[in-house]
Amino acid sequence: MGFLSVLSMAHKLVKERVSPGDTVIDATCGNGVDTRFLAELVGKRGAVYAFDIQAEALERTRARLAGGDGGVTDKPGAEAAVHLVHASHAAIAEHVAPEAHGRAAAAMFNLGYLPGADQSVITTPAGTLAALDAALALVRPGGIVTVVLYPGHPGGAEEAEAVQQWAASLPQTTAQAVLYRMVQKAEAPYLVAIEKR
Ligand SMILES: C[S@@+](CC[C@H](N)C(=O)[O-])C[C@H]1O[C@@H](n2cnc3c(N)ncnc32)[C@H](O)[C@@H]1O
Repeated sequence: MGFLSVLSMAHKLVKERVSPGDTVIDATCGNGVDTRFLAELVGKRGAVYAFDIQAEALERTRARLAGGDGGVTDKPGAEAAVHLVHASHAAIAEHVAPEAHGRAAAAMFNLGYLPGADQSVITTPAGTLAALDAALALVRPGGIVTVVLYPGHPGGAEEAEAVQQWAASLPQTTAQAVLYRMVQKAEAPYLVAIEKR
């Protein structure tokens, strides 16, 4: 049968904690898979903030949301307010509505580069850690931050290690952190998930 993929596990953990009407964040929208997933979860009364530093990623996400095969227009979540933000996730707090601060249900990070685009444009440890701090402040108690890490590309292992250390150093009174990883495959993507207390 096999275990859930890292991406499916991230979706499962988020789905268990997000309800219609919630505000959620996609910190790295890329191809828009997670943005669409989040839009469907929160539905027409919800809001999704999706960030990327590449205009191409925002275009791909917009196209995925707009419909066609796999779009959301035929799904209950089609009307969710999706804010596509062309900015670094390090600036998340500046773009999320003040009334949602401390109330967001989830923030998803999928690090690394945009497949099929310039692979030198990647997330970096400093920016990612700043964004993770901001995301954890934005989510509500019981809310979740998921981070998919890619130790297999140049710079990815250092970033993954930094994120893991960041998660491990969180006080247990602030958050609980778990790791989901194929222990026989050192270079395979893996997941760190943080639930805020
Ligand atoms: C692996 S892709 C994300 C995949 C996406 N979650 C999906 O579902 O298709 C990583 C994305 O992070 C973006 N990125 C890199 N640095 C960033 C930053 N500082 N802030 C926001 N996005 C960033 C890249 O442009 C790329 O599109």
